Amino acid sequence: MRGVGYSTGAALADLVDNSIAAGATNVSIQFNWSDGGHSVTLLDDGKGMSDPELHKAMTLGSRSPLEQRSASDLGRFGMGLKTASLSQCRRLTVASVQGGIRSCLRWDLDHLAANQQLGWSLIEGPEPGSEGLLKILDGRPNGTLVVWECLDRIVGPGFTSTDFASLTFEVERHLAMVFHRWIGGRDRRLTLSINDAPVNAWDPFMTGHPAKSWNSPVQRLQTADGPILVECHVLPHKDRLSPEEFAEGGGPGGWAAQQGFYVYRNDRLILAGGWLGLGQGRAWNREEAYRLARVRIDIPNSADASWRIDIKKSVARPPAAVRGWLTKLAEDTRNRARKVFAYRGSPISSVGGQSVDLAWRVEQLKSGIRYRVDLKHPVVAAAVENAGQDRELVLAMIRVIEETVPVQRIWLDTAENKDTPSTGFVASPPAEISAVLSTLFEDMTGRQGMAPADARRVLKSTEPFQSYPALVDAIGR
Ligand SMILES: Nc1ncnc2c1ncn2[C@@H]1O[C@H](COP(=O)(O)OP(=O)(O)OP(=O)(O)O)[C@@H](O)[C@H]1O
Ligand SMILES: [Mg+2]
Repeated sequence: MRGVGYSTGAALADLVDNSIAAGATNVSIQFNWSDGGHSVTLLDDGKGMSDPELHKAMTLGSRSPLEQRSASDLGRFGMGLKTASLSQCRRLTVASVQGGIRSCLRWDLDHLAANQQLGWSLIEGPEPGSEGLLKILDGRPNGTLVVWECLDRIVGPGFTSTDFASLTFEVERHLAMVFHRWIGGRDRRLTLSINDAPVNAWDPFMTGHPAKSWNSPVQRLQTADGPILVECHVLPHKDRLSPEEFAEGGGPGGWAAQQGFYVYRNDRLILAGGWLGLGQGRAWNREEAYRLARVRIDIPNSADASWRIDIKKSVARPPAAVRGWLTKLAEDTRNRARKVFAYRGSPISSVGGQSVDLAWRVEQLKSGIRYRVDLKHPVVAAAVENAGQDRELVLAMIRVIEETVPVQRIWLDTAENKDTPSTGFVASPPAEISAVLSTLFEDMTGRQGMAPADARRVLKSTEPFQSYPALVDAIGR
C-alpha cells in the first residue's frame, strides 16, 4: 500500500481533495523541521467529522468506488487519506472537530508491526508527546487536522533541512498547478497556504495574457458518462514574453514536458501535459515544436471509471468513444502551435489581409523537400533585372545559396537551443534595416520609376520588411 508511488505533492493534493469535498475554504499546510521530530500537517476549516465518521474515514476502502458521488466530490475510492499519508509517513494522526466536539485517531505502522496479535488496531488520540500539534484545533467549531509523523519516505539518510525546504517549494509548485482553478480565477473558492504563505495559482493557459496566440471556443461532447468539455490553447512565443513570464509559463516540468492535455475533474487537475497516447498513426511525443500547445479537458466524476482514474488522481485515459474527437482537436492545436513556434510568434503569410511576398519557396519533390529563392520576390527580381550583363552571375549565386542552405546546422541549432534561429532582422538595429530599405526604395523610385507611395506599399508586404511598417513609412522622407 505504501508503494502506490505518490510524490509528496500528489499525496498532499489527495488530502486537499478531501478538504474541498468537506466544504473547506481555507487549507493550511505546515512543513515542520525540528530536532524533536519532523512533521507535515494539514488543517482545514471544512465540516469536520463525528467520531463514527472519523472511524469510517480511517478504514481502507471506507466507501465503494462504485457508489455514486455528489457531482462536486473529489474522492472515489475511499482510500486516499490512508494511502497518500502512509506513502509518506509511518504515523498518521487525524483529529477532527464537528460542532466543537473533537475526535482523534491514529495509524502507527510501527505499533502494528510490534503488536501483530492485535490485528489492525487503530489508536485513540495523538502520540504521547505530539499533543502540541493538535493545539491548533482549539476553539474551532469544525475542521480537520491531518498529521504526518515519522516521515521515513521523505526524510531518508543524508536528507537535510535544505532538502526539506526544496521539497516544500516543489510541493508548492505542484499544488499551485493542481488547484489553480480553486485558488485562482475570479471566485477564489479556496485559500491554500504553505508555512503561512499563500500558494498562488499557476494557470497553464496564461489566461488574459495580451500576447496569447489563440484559443478555441469551448467544445462539448455528450457521452454516456456526462458531458466532456474541451478548450484548446496556443501560448505566446518566447519572444512575446518577458524572461520572468517565460520561466514561469513553462510550469513545474518546463515547456516541452508541459505541452499536451490537461485533464480536470471538478476543476481539479488530474493530469498535466502529455498527449494521452493519441496521434495519427503513431502516438504523439512531447516535442519542442509543439510546446506551445495545451488542451484543457473537463470530465465529470461520473466518468471516473471510463477514464480509468487512479487512486492517486494522477492518471486518466480517454475512452475509445472520445479518442477520435480529441485527436482531431489536438491535431489542429498542434499545427497552430508549431507555426507560432517556427515563426517565432509572427506567421508571415499575410499582413492586414494582404498577402506577403516571401523570399523562399518550399518545393516538395519525390526525393524530399528543397528550398528555393523566389525569383518573383520584389527585391530578388529587381536585383536580377538590374544585373545587366551580370545576370547569369547573379543567378548562379542564387543557385549556390539555394544548394547550400545550412539545413543540418539549423536543425541542430533549433534542437539544441530549443528555439528557431533569429531571422527577419530581429537581431539587427533599426539603422541597418533602414539602410537596406533605402537601397531598395531608391531602385524602385529611380530605375523602376515607381511613385514613392507605391514603393512603400510594395515594401510593406515584402518579406521581411512587413514586420517593420514604421521604418518603411519613414523611408525617402
Ligand atoms: N478533511 C476531511 N474533512 C472531512 N471529512 C473527511 C476529510 N478527509 C476525509 N474525510 C472523510 O473520509 C473519507 C475517506 O477519505 P479518503 O480520502 O480515504 O477516501 P475518499 O476521499 O472517499 O476517496 P479517494 O480514495 O478517492 O480519496 C471521505 O470520504 C470523507 O468522508
Ligand atoms: Mg480522498
